[in-house]
Amino acid sequence: MSFRIQPAAPARPNRCQLFGPGSRPAIFEKMAGSAADVINLDLEDSVAPTDKDSARANIIKAIGEIDWGNKTLSVRINGLDTPYWYRDVVDLLEQASERLDQIMIPKVGCAGDIYAVDALVTAVERARGRTKPIKFEVIIESAAGIAHVEEIAAASPRLEAMSLGAADFAASMGMATTGIGGTQENYYMIREGQKHWSDPWHWAQAAIVAACRTHGVLPVDGPFGDFSDDEGFRAQALRSATLGMVGKWAIHPKQVALANEVFTPTEEAVNEAREILAAMEEAKAKGEGATVYKGRLVDIASIKQAEVIVRQAEMIAAN
Ligand code: COA
Ligand code: MG
Repeated sequence: MSFRIQPAAPARPNRCQLFGPGSRPAIFEKMAGSAADVINLDLEDSVAPTDKDSARANIIKAIGEIDWGNKTLSVRINGLDTPYWYRDVVDLLEQASERLDQIMIPKVGCAGDIYAVDALVTAVERARGRTKPIKFEVIIESAAGIAHVEEIAAASPRLEAMSLGAADFAASMGMATTGIGGTQENYYMIREGQKHWSDPWHWAQAAIVAACRTHGVLPVDGPFGDFSDDEGFRAQALRSATLGMVGKWAIHPKQVALANEVFTPTEEAVNEAREILAAMEEAKAKGEGATVYKGRLVDIASIKQAEVIVRQAEMIAAN
């Protein structure tokens, strides 16, 4: 057991991050009116190279003009391997209103990537006298990103969230898949002649959660491409929540309600957590460290597990 206390992640809801291309300003108002906790206006892979300049201008205008309510407002910039990213950062920081909360950095491969963006952001913030420091979120979506995930999670005090980007991740890893997240047809085991599908995203998700929890960053599951498959989305999201992730992207508005449903603790789960806390209070009064709740052991570790659920529910209710 380390003597270091695990830092808390930012106490804001991040159940759903709704994406939309910066080249499609007609949907910005709809995004603002959605039930997503986070809005990601995209300059990267949903925007064609010929549209990068106009998308940037659309986004800068919309940040100032649209009422984004109490949502976390984030812009995904282009990757550091492109000629676009510095202009994304400079124009956003020089021209966008202080309503902008966050920059999402895609395809990060090492802590130095974050350092480079941090240096540029810090210089423009100072030059322009911006009073609200911009936060960062990153996408782990390459072999290098997952190999260096812990140093990336520790790279900047600006960093608030980290997502797994399944499609680019699969490509970088050389995985034999074309689906964006979810069950993969060929990833199965055989037992007594029956196929049992397993989860090829599991280890990357668990590595991300561990790095994030070590450094007080929110771990988030990325896109699920087949927006016609609600049950597939729900299954993927439930697995992510079970592993400790706090939310998931929506790449179509119909996925927002599904993500909010999965990443909001159910009334039943919250009630049970409160009952466990009450049972442990009773045990403590009797000088006991462990007791029985519904026929099973609960002890001091159960208090911490129950508190995760209660705290999450209270934080969501408070927002
Ligand atoms: N946010 C808010 N509203 C959206 C939306 C989004 N991302 N995508 C579509 N809508 C709206 C449409 O304008 C339409 O509204 P209407 O009923 O008022 O006409 C409604 O939702 C239904 O849209 P639909 O026709 O089903 O989808 P589409 O063909 O217009 O767009 C996508 C489908 C996938 C191209 C589009 O959702 C999209 O661009 N998603 C985000 C992609 C992205 O950002 N990727 C980067 C991260 S992986
Ligand atoms: Mg990507």
